Amino acid sequence: MSTLARMKRNYQGLRVAVGYSATRFSTPMGRLRNFWKFRAIRRLLARCEPLDRILDIPCGTGRFTSRLPSRSTIGVDVSFQMLREAERSARGQVAFVQGDVDDLPFRSGAFDCVLTIRFLRHLPRSERVKVLGRLREVSQGGMIFDFVHRSSWKALVGRVRSSLGFRVKARERLSCDEVAEELREAGLRPVAMLPCFQFWSEKWVVLAERG
Ligand SMILES: C[S@@+](CC[C@H](N)C(=O)[O-])C[C@H]1O[C@@H](n2cnc3c(N)ncnc32)[C@H](O)[C@@H]1O
Repeated sequence: MSTLARMKRNYQGLRVAVGYSATRFSTPMGRLRNFWKFRAIRRLLARCEPLDRILDIPCGTGRFTSRLPSRSTIGVDVSFQMLREAERSARGQVAFVQGDVDDLPFRSGAFDCVLTIRFLRHLPRSERVKVLGRLREVSQGGMIFDFVHRSSWKALVGRVRSSLGFRVKARERLSCDEVAEELREAGLRPVAMLPCFQFWSEKWVVLAERG
């Protein structure tokens, strides 16, 4: 089974959907991470013109969807339960649609910007490049996504812990050059890459455009 197919399956349950934001973004640290991430996303969105139509995919429980500065925002997710949570917390003019990144129900260039957060980094490189290529099709402007940077204080702590014999969660960490290379393979080019917070952050956001 591909990682993409596993990701699709992993978020189907009601318990996962209800617990998703509660466990990750409701603690003081989680709120701060959410704030940093959204601040970095907003900085990149400020470089996108026009911004009438934004696609947030996968939108999950919609933690950013209804806060995006556009006239029309659509949140898409494959999980009905995640969408249900998103609808519950949504404010303002957003629409939520059940859909699969593998089979997008939108015409080419339908959006001014596509936002993809906490998704690509779960996929292996080959699947990531394919998904980037599919999302490129539906954006006529920018694409914003996040990645885990290779050099960060968390990576350093992980290496120290691992050298002391502690078990450390394996996660793929990339350099900016590696991200740029993946974008190139997907027919995109990087416009800007930013750390979510200044102190040697492991979470970065990227704005890319058709190359
Ligand atoms: C880690 S969550 C990220 C959600 C949101 N972007 C955020 O930052 O909170 C991953 C989401 O991807 C969705 N998903 C997994 N496979 C998908 C697919 N093939 N198409 C659309 N959504 C998918 C899951 O249902 C889940 O809501």
